[in-house]
Amino acid sequence: MATRHAPVALVLQTVRNSDSLKLQVHPSSTLTPPASPIPGLPSHLNQESRPSRPQEFQQALDLQRDDAGNLVEYGRGAWSIVYMARSSWTSPAASLTPPPSPGASSRILAVKAPLRRDAHPVLQAEALILTRINWTSGWEHYVVPFHGFISTSSTIVMSAVPLTLSTYVEDRAAIARQNFSTRTMSDPVLGLSQWREVARALIAGLTWLHNEARVVHGDIKPHSILLRPRLVKDGATLAYDPLYTDFSSAHDLLSPTSLASDSPRTSLSALSPPFVAPELLSVSAMRSLDLVATPPCDVFSLAVTLLAAATGDLLLYGTSNMQRLAMSRDGHRVLDYVRFGPNGSRVPRKGIIENILTQAVSKEPSERILPEEWLKLVES
Ligand SMILES: Nc1ncnc2c1ncn2[C@@H]1O[C@H](COP(=O)(O)OP(=O)(O)O)[C@@H](O)[C@H]1O
Ligand SMILES: [Mg+2]
Repeated sequence: MATRHAPVALVLQTVRNSDSLKLQVHPSSTLTPPASPIPGLPSHLNQESRPSRPQEFQQALDLQRDDAGNLVEYGRGAWSIVYMARSSWTSPAASLTPPPSPGASSRILAVKAPLRRDAHPVLQAEALILTRINWTSGWEHYVVPFHGFISTSSTIVMSAVPLTLSTYVEDRAAIARQNFSTRTMSDPVLGLSQWREVARALIAGLTWLHNEARVVHGDIKPHSILLRPRLVKDGATLAYDPLYTDFSSAHDLLSPTSLASDSPRTSLSALSPPFVAPELLSVSAMRSLDLVATPPCDVFSLAVTLLAAATGDLLLYGTSNMQRLAMSRDGHRVLDYVRFGPNGSRVPRKGIIENILTQAVSKEPSERILPEEWLKLVES
């Protein structure tokens, strides 16, 4: 059992200058759903049963270093650096975790630490949303396992899932270029059945997120999706389960004035064309201070993510930032644009991909397909 010490702030500076890599987290109350929610409402929609603070992570963590002594990084984003860590804590159940048994072997975790001061409230809001998500049954199928928040350093602790959909798509695109064949040139770079499995899993996840968890993700793109190796294949051709991560732009549909929507993460710096819905990129939306993604924005972003997973091109509109912003503002034309581009053969006219994506990229957000209808379409 780990001994407990005074809290140590896990800010970047402190970690780098620290002689000891051991991060000790002070004990505090773990939040669990209250026993007496308001009667009549499903528990996951009950305001009284929603957490007011993120669930704390209470175990010791060891950040990992490579042979050169540098902290091992899984990745970086707009707000954070994600490090590799070990902990003797072993339970996969995030919210009702018993203390680790003595002698339990350590497990590898991913630790998301703020890059800058203004990222602290962003990660705190993200941790609150992840706590909410953990209180909604079914999360384990769709969202990266969240194990708690270290409030003294605004650090999020998750399971380590070291492969992003973006990396996987790039790897598959490189393989497709090497093995180019007229037989497969009209298939997605992932392979058609694998692409359909990714689409089905992510659309099912979005349906769950919007309708059960009542959360808008706000930043769906290939870099915000992790691929967890599948233990049981169940006839699937894809070796992974796609999971949503990075809820730093997310907000709670039931409490629009929550900390999440007040936090500075709504700023433009975190937006990623071409995956952002065009209505968020209009000049007036970009001037507005309260830029908030809606459920149809997520539908659009997921559709463009799936399009990139078909073509193998994560930039979609070329490498010039100005051109990408201009094209992204016209985002509802993305399918036509891609069809005339270098990878257009992978999105055949009237083919499966066009059929699945067209209604998800409608210009008018209100005309975009609802996730539950979209799920029926991809399953048909
Ligand atoms: N659980 C995880 N396991 C492994 N790598 C991760 C995990 N979560 C995030 N990453 C990596 O870190 C990167 C940045 O994380 P992200 O949550 O997108 O941060 P930000 O909110 O700063 O954008 C991701 O693109 C991914 O490469
Ligand atoms: Mg990110």
